Amino acid sequence: MSGGVYGGDEVGALVFDPGQFSLRVGYAGEDSPKSEIPSTVGVSPNDAPSGSASAHAMETDSNATAGATTATSQQIGAGPQEKNFHLGVVALAAARKAKETMSYVRDGMIEDWDVFEKVLDHAYKNVIQSEAELHPVLFSEAPWNQRAKREKLTELLFEKYQVPAFFLVKNAVLAAFANGRSTGLVVDSGATYTAAVPVHEGFVLQNAIVKSPLAGDYVTHQCLNFLEQEKKIEIVPPYMIGGKEEVKMGDPPKWTRRSNLPEVTQSWHNYMKRQVVQDFQSSVLQVSDAPYDEDSLSTILHYPYEFPNGYNNEYGMERFRIPEALFDPAYNKSPNAHSMMSVSHVVTTSVGMCDIDLRPALYGSVVVTGGNTLLQGFNERLNRDLSVKTPTNMRFKLIAANGPQERRFGSWIGGSILASLGSFQQMWISKQEYEESGKSQVDRKCP
Ligand SMILES: Nc1ncnc2c1ncn2[C@@H]1O[C@H](COP(=O)(O)OP(=O)(O)OP(=O)(O)O)[C@@H](O)[C@H]1O
Ligand SMILES: [Mg+2]
Repeated sequence: MSGGVYGGDEVGALVFDPGQFSLRVGYAGEDSPKSEIPSTVGVSPNDAPSGSASAHAMETDSNATAGATTATSQQIGAGPQEKNFHLGVVALAAARKAKETMSYVRDGMIEDWDVFEKVLDHAYKNVIQSEAELHPVLFSEAPWNQRAKREKLTELLFEKYQVPAFFLVKNAVLAAFANGRSTGLVVDSGATYTAAVPVHEGFVLQNAIVKSPLAGDYVTHQCLNFLEQEKKIEIVPPYMIGGKEEVKMGDPPKWTRRSNLPEVTQSWHNYMKRQVVQDFQSSVLQVSDAPYDEDSLSTILHYPYEFPNGYNNEYGMERFRIPEALFDPAYNKSPNAHSMMSVSHVVTTSVGMCDIDLRPALYGSVVVTGGNTLLQGFNERLNRDLSVKTPTNMRFKLIAANGPQERRFGSWIGGSILASLGSFQQMWISKQEYEESGKSQVDRKCP
């Protein structure tokens, strides 16, 4: 007997969807994740005398005291090199001396396992607020995740967290499920990459995945360059601001520096600056619905934006020019622009690498997911560019969830649906199976 059957509604399964921007965490069967934990974490040296009870501490957001931070201490060995971790939005955003930022994710995969464990501890303690051994866990993974990392995750969940059952699914497959498809071409544009991932009957066609670094982080970087270098705007994160006055549009801002600011690190300050730029990015930018053309855009309405320090101005053509690079490489000013494909090129290249018999089904279900696709006008433009590029004998259909939550959390939602299906319950790797056959079970049971 396999022992792998779990009654889906007896114990709530948990769904974890990790990415470079955040880790989405919540209960299977729910509409959206309970929480989103930033994948950027704060790390500071521990000033406490070595060997003391707080030699290794975690400062985390707590659900119980929303808006406040709680500090929990944990001692894992003692020594002068012990560090404090600041996890979750609130703890990460608190100005603190010598706090650096780092990420435990790289290329969509978990890279720093020690830090990842801290984040999981935080998720169980402050988000789930329940015992890990009670809940089956479904994790999503990047379509290119490596075998060693898959096995390591399996081992971690069973050995350290003692989960009763575990499963691992490619995030693109989950995003397709969330949109009611088991076959389709998934376009996932998140923080660090835009990928086209062909999915056929629930399986990823690994050899035809195509990736480009033109995604949300790239757009943030371009906005930062535009604001600082072209417009000479000083980007002041809210933590620095003690007070400000209203000023006329385009006038220099009048603000005062908060007193008693601790000496912060460059990495943390830059993280806080990027937060400001990301708000500008999501509020101001718009993707042109036809290829960008300065003459036809010269009459467009300008859009006002006020920065946290009170500086306010209007933005016109730049609103369209910056995100145009996602669709037209001619607007890409990076030194290695030649190696970055536009979003529609990523899609057509991927479909072109698939078996010719499969192509109509892929063009017929192009599923769009990921935070960067929330840029205003993104889907309309992709729809237009792909309509033009789809071979005339094939039908093209773009599928995108309407709501911004559904679009950003596509893979988490797919996991939530899958893990609560009755027919899925026999798929889990059970604790017993893990104990009998070890971590390689994940290679057998999770394609
Ligand atoms: N409303 C919005 N408008 C524009 N961009 C947005 C919006 N909301 C989020 N983003 C961008 O989406 C990106 C995050 O997307 P997502 O959550 O899909 O990433 P991720 O899955 O964590 O990262 P990755 O896929 O690179 O591992 C960020 O770059 C963020 O700036
Ligand atoms: Mg992602």
